[in-house]
Amino acid sequence: MQLKFKNGKFRVLQVSDPQDLQYVRPTMMRMLNKAYDDLKPDLIVLTGDNILGNHLDDARIYTPLIVKDKESEKKAMGIAIDKLVSPIEERKIPFAMIYGNHDDRNRMTKEEQADFYRSYSCNIGLDGTDSGDCDTYNIPIYSEDGEKVKINIWMLDSAWHDKEQDKCFEYVKPQAVEWYKKTSARLKEENGGEVVPAIMFQHIPMLETLELIEECDKNYEGAVPGPDGKFFKLKDECGGFLGEYVSAVSEKTGQMEAIKECGDVKAVVFGHDHGNCFTGVVDGIQFIQTPCTSFRCYGNRKRGVRVFDIDESTGEFETFVLTYDDIVGKSLWNDFCYLWDADDMWKKKAALIAGVAGAAVLGIGVGVGIALKKRK
Ligand SMILES: [Fe+2]
Repeated sequence: MQLKFKNGKFRVLQVSDPQDLQYVRPTMMRMLNKAYDDLKPDLIVLTGDNILGNHLDDARIYTPLIVKDKESEKKAMGIAIDKLVSPIEERKIPFAMIYGNHDDRNRMTKEEQADFYRSYSCNIGLDGTDSGDCDTYNIPIYSEDGEKVKINIWMLDSAWHDKEQDKCFEYVKPQAVEWYKKTSARLKEENGGEVVPAIMFQHIPMLETLELIEECDKNYEGAVPGPDGKFFKLKDECGGFLGEYVSAVSEKTGQMEAIKECGDVKAVVFGHDHGNCFTGVVDGIQFIQTPCTSFRCYGNRKRGVRVFDIDESTGEFETFVLTYDDIVGKSLWNDFCYLWDADDMWKKKAALIAGVAGAAVLGIGVGVGIALKKRK
């Protein structure tokens, strides 16, 4: 499938951390469906933690295992992925995906899981590269006439589970960095020696993202707790919102040096930190953090999707986040749905249920009292 600019524009919609199960939260799906209809993206990128792959077998909290073998796990995984992907497929929107730290900690391999995504006609990118990971690849976006690659989208795996060690690693592998350098050089050569401007997506923030925050007084408005009892804020030159301390990759694998050497990447875009929503510049490269989409996880009212509007003639782009409130609108009903489905609202939800139950009990008590009085 060749993706092309239309009327000089191309819109990418990033959906990050929609992590959910075979029992998907309806409020997230309502938000996503409306976003797809309203925004009409040319490409959707699912940037990791697409499902809660590590909770497929204990999908209902406080209940015993419900998935006991690989076959049952496969079935549950297929349903969870289908809940997420079928609204995209129904609308015939091309989509690409990478994994996050939650996707594959289960009996299935990444390749086996990728087969679910590959089974949708709108899926692109997962058709094999020499990168070493099925979810490390690039998507060229062509000019309207299909003659020239105008923008390149890098999709890099930054979260992987070593099944033998049963350990999760969070960084872009050195061989993926080497593959990026080699492929970037090839694209440049094919483009007559000119670098192809690119946007790079990966799940876990690069270590250099920490350069966008600084220590601050704990009483500073918006300060978030970090390591060693210290508090942090977003640097003044950045735009957006810091909802939690940056949880970056665990190792440097030469990615930043490679990006600077290749000179093609305009922005690196991350998910993983559900509560963070900001942009900043590190060594001339834009670092963009997108909040989560999921309601079945920690997070805040920044939950939503990120839009990239790319201009064909300049290769430049505008980006913005649309939150749940932006997408579905403010109303009492939408507030109630948010409260009911978002994990971080559980205390308010519990208070609401207790209040309604208390009022019901009181109402029944009063009713019984009146009835008894009448009988006397
Ligand atoms: Fe996540």
